[in-house]
Amino acid sequence: MKVLLVGSGAREHAIAKALSRSPQEPRIFAYMSTPNPGIIRLAEGWIEGGLNDLPSLVRYAQRVRPNLVVFGPEEPLAAGAVDELEERGFSCIGPRRILARLEADKCFMREFMARYIGRGFPKWWVFENLGTLHAHLLSHPNSVLKPVGLTGGKGVRVLGRQLTNVMEAIEYARPYLEREGKILVEEKLTGEEFSLMVFTDGKKVVPMPLVQDYKYAREGDTGPMTGGMGSYSCADYLLPFVSQKDFETALGIVEETVKKLEEALGIPYRGVLYGQFIQTQSGPVVIEFNVRFGDPEAINVLSLLESDAVDVFASIAAGDLVEDVRFSHLATVCRYLVPRGYPDAPETGVLFSLPLEKLSLAGIEVYFGSVQEVNGQFSTTASRSVALLSRRATPQEAKHALDEALADYTVPLYWRRDIPRLL
Ligand code: GLY
Repeated sequence: MKVLLVGSGAREHAIAKALSRSPQEPRIFAYMSTPNPGIIRLAEGWIEGGLNDLPSLVRYAQRVRPNLVVFGPEEPLAAGAVDELEERGFSCIGPRRILARLEADKCFMREFMARYIGRGFPKWWVFENLGTLHAHLLSHPNSVLKPVGLTGGKGVRVLGRQLTNVMEAIEYARPYLEREGKILVEEKLTGEEFSLMVFTDGKKVVPMPLVQDYKYAREGDTGPMTGGMGSYSCADYLLPFVSQKDFETALGIVEETVKKLEEALGIPYRGVLYGQFIQTQSGPVVIEFNVRFGDPEAINVLSLLESDAVDVFASIAAGDLVEDVRFSHLATVCRYLVPRGYPDAPETGVLFSLPLEKLSLAGIEVYFGSVQEVNGQFSTTASRSVALLSRRATPQEAKHALDEALADYTVPLYWRRDIPRLL
């Protein structure tokens, strides 16, 4: 069994680790935008290539002839990598381009939800010129601006928070309106956020444990938005602020989305679908859909995956998802170590080392992100460097273990010590 993994971050390192635990001993190949030292250690072969460079990806697939192609990031999915590969006979875990619009085109996502789901979304508006946007923001100070296209999780701005006044909001929107012709505005909701990811073959939907992700760069949820600075999950697969009933409501929305996507677009959604929800007083509301595993959320859930990852992925590709996907009943806490100044002015090229043996003895797992390996040391790039994961009976114990492991660790990197902020 040969598996081609697309992507090069800590999320993809987590996918590679899950695959490498399979008793089927799959041969792993990787197509990466930057060489990931963790994936390289697990892969039989790898190549460097742009995530949007589909001819290069197709050429590598034709060389490797994988039985399965597993996607980490959204860029190749939005660019139509699955369409290109499936047309050449490759089995893919990830949606075709038309389905990937659920993440790549936020207006499409809202229109789809309004038309086919009819619940679980906030009030929303689309603006195509600055004048009408300006008038709207003056009368709706409780607004969130969302660029329509992909922004690596860093595009959302809240009026009154990152955007201190309407003029700042207009200046923020201006280049997006010029480039994309429109911008999405939503009412700002109040509540805790959570990530519900599912495996699906287009018919069956199997949920993974819920995860809470922390997107702000600095402690106390301050500073700029990032792709995610860390995350946690609980042993009962819920979160302290999400009841079983709320989980079922959220899952119902995701299940209906899978079903209605096929009805609307005529092809089944096969892969991972990730609903990002906010837990409001009146129940869970979708703030975004992503067509892939979350990063870092994948690290939490895949570290718990007890089922054979090859079976799970192969059954998705075959359109007959195994229904008893098992996860350990343990809590997880993940923290990203990032370059100082990340994300606005990251210090790149900074050398650091990791006490790999000590971390391993403490039961802390290491997932490499965007780092270069230089003579046994690591060097920072502009993105998140390394994720550390702790798995224990409770999130409190997992947090404590991570705090202990990082207590006397002096390194020129930054991490949020307040993850998780347990309620
Ligand atoms: N953790 C946020 C994301 O993966 O989009």
